[in-house]
Amino acid sequence: MQVGRAGGHPTMTHTLRALAVGTVSAIGALLIAGSALAADPLMERARELFKPLPASIPVVKDNAVTREKIELGKMLFFEPRLSASGIFSCNSCHNLGLGGVDGLETSVGHGWQKGPRNSPTVLNAVLNVAQFWDGRAEDLKAQAKGPIQAGVEMNSTPDRVMAVLTSIPAYTARFADAFPNEKQPVTFDNVAKAIEAFEATLTTPASPFDQFLEGKADALTDAQKAGLTLFMDKGCSACHNGVNVGGQDYFPFGVVEKPGAEILPPGDKGRFTVTKTADDEYVFRSPTLRNVALTAPYFHSGKVWDLRQAVAVMGSSQLGAKLSEQEIDQITAFLHSLTGQQPRVEYPLLPASLPATPQPMLR
Ligand code: HEC
Ligand code: HEC
Repeated sequence: MQVGRAGGHPTMTHTLRALAVGTVSAIGALLIAGSALAADPLMERARELFKPLPASIPVVKDNAVTREKIELGKMLFFEPRLSASGIFSCNSCHNLGLGGVDGLETSVGHGWQKGPRNSPTVLNAVLNVAQFWDGRAEDLKAQAKGPIQAGVEMNSTPDRVMAVLTSIPAYTARFADAFPNEKQPVTFDNVAKAIEAFEATLTTPASPFDQFLEGKADALTDAQKAGLTLFMDKGCSACHNGVNVGGQDYFPFGVVEKPGAEILPPGDKGRFTVTKTADDEYVFRSPTLRNVALTAPYFHSGKVWDLRQAVAVMGSSQLGAKLSEQEIDQITAFLHSLTGQQPRVEYPLLPASLPATPQPMLR
């Protein structure tokens, strides 16, 4: 996934946000200039490991992000008729009012079935190296086709999705606008591309940590600064770094000490299923820690509800370090500084079903 500046046409909200963040950056630049003599060593060090979120929509591979695609993608993200039951939309499990997650241990989908893993946030997912806990989807457009067809999630088929969308002229018109010059714009691929375009807008810039990286020294509290120092000194930043504070690489869960089966259930071997390499047993993508204060419960198993406990588990499992209560508090305080501006999404109006639209299937 490419990470870049200014792609496509920003939505209104994003233009406003870009302006707001631009102002923050400008202030940051002044502060940097002003503090060049008395450089802030913590800020300097953090800048080598992390990058602020871009204010503009990231560029995505092979999919120009246009206003029409974003709008259509937003409708599809909230569209329950992409599921066989007519009940589940992407937003059911990636609720944009709840930090892009469902707040459940593991997700519940079609027929009240409980899936095997915790739902990761869609916020800033566009900046992850690949999608899913095991990285099995290359990017968001490859990812989006998965849940629609997964039996425990939306339980639909590409044919059924096409039948739903082509039965509603308002949708065929939207696809024609979003994919001009295509002979048959309503395709399953284009459903995925439109959703990807919308998801690319779901970034959360201007968190206190971003403001700090941009030069605002007092954007972090003293406890958060102590936590940031620990985060780097103890080695958390070896796996959670870069623009997404994670999401870039794969590591065993339990580098030093394997967590107990109650946190790391033995049945889920993670990336091993993708690569079939013995070294990849219990290997997972290090998640982004952006907005982590909003996305409990934690880990792919969703077994840990308290962020402090997740930090303690990471200390022992990944670093062989027993963190003190104070260290846990400070690191947790730092993690709270990663909560950014949440996307303000206006709930889309969805066109009504017509007699030809396939009816919901509850079984
Ligand atoms: C029933 C709940 C459910 C529904 C509905 C659902 N998802 Fe998910 N989503 C999940 C779970 C659980 C995972 C993690 C699965 C895994 O890693 O194996 C996931 C993973 C993802 C990821 C990967 C994020 C990351 O950081 O790796 C994205 C992006 C995503 N879903 C988007 C969508 C979109 C788009 C839709 C609608 C087309 C959708 N989801 C529908 C539960 C759901
Ligand atoms: C060797 C790499 C590595 C190190 C070092 C590491 N982590 Fe992690 N972290 C991971 C991986 C991999 C996961 C996902 C584990 C899983 O659920 O399978 C994770 C998950 C997490 C989570 C849960 C996030 C979520 O959304 O569920 C938090 C919080 C976290 N790490 C914080 C930390 C902190 C704080 C430190 C330092 C004390 C740290 N990590 C050190 C690799 C690492």
